[in-house]
Amino acid sequence: MLNLVLVEAALETVPRVILGHPSVRRNARRRRKIPQETLLDRSLHHSAMERLPDSHKRGRPDIVHICLLEALGTPLNAEGGLRIWVHTYGGYAIEVSPKARLPRDRGRFDSLVGQLFSEGRVPPGAESPLMALDQKDMGALLREMEPVYKIALTSRGEPSTLEEVCDDLVTKGDSAVLVGAFPHGPMRDETLSLVDRAVSVHPTALETWVVTSRLIYEYERRLAKSLTS
Ligand SMILES: C[S@@+](CC[C@H](N)C(=O)[O-])C[C@H]1O[C@@H](n2cnc3c(N)ncnc32)[C@H](O)[C@@H]1O
Repeated sequence: MLNLVLVEAALETVPRVILGHPSVRRNARRRRKIPQETLLDRSLHHSAMERLPDSHKRGRPDIVHICLLEALGTPLNAEGGLRIWVHTYGGYAIEVSPKARLPRDRGRFDSLVGQLFSEGRVPPGAESPLMALDQKDMGALLREMEPVYKIALTSRGEPSTLEEVCDDLVTKGDSAVLVGAFPHGPMRDETLSLVDRAVSVHPTALETWVVTSRLIYEYERRLAKSLTS
């Protein structure tokens, strides 16, 4: 089983300190939402975000959206070999059902996530939700997952290849792979301290969705190879 964890994800509702900013109010009005139920988004709230700490790492819901569509649509997920988690910049853990069929449209995805932050699960009250949210630190989430092996993918890690990493993951068994779902900057030391290995799989920094899709594809190939040998 591969546990994919999108860490320090740039996914949150608009923080209280900028709720009154004109760009926040304008966007909420256009979407017929109350401002606190809308998502922080760099493309809409650029000037308001200047006031926020770590603003370079925040306000990119598109990263999680693309990665979830990508991961949920893989053969590995269809065959039951993938679990997907999101751990947000603000310290929330989101469990994503392998059966979730998420909206392709960003506006509808944002509304769903806004509802997730206010209700704790979507659909609200469902016994088997598509997504469930809990305030939980990354260490607690990993303890619950109980992987035998944990790797972080980061451009600042020990150089290796995805082939070698996936061989290692398949050999070890239930594993967790942490991929940063933020646009810029390094993974926190606090996050890196939780893993067995931090690995770079390319000489330059790649987009999260590129790393996610290549990781799952290579894992599928190595898994198939291990089952036939
Ligand atoms: C846009 S990058 C974050 C940018 C950041 N400058 C960095 O150091 O990777 C998003 C995530 O993709 C993964 N990633 C990007 N390039 C990588 C690489 N060369 N090797 C391993 N993981 C990588 C990491 O998990 C990273 O946090």
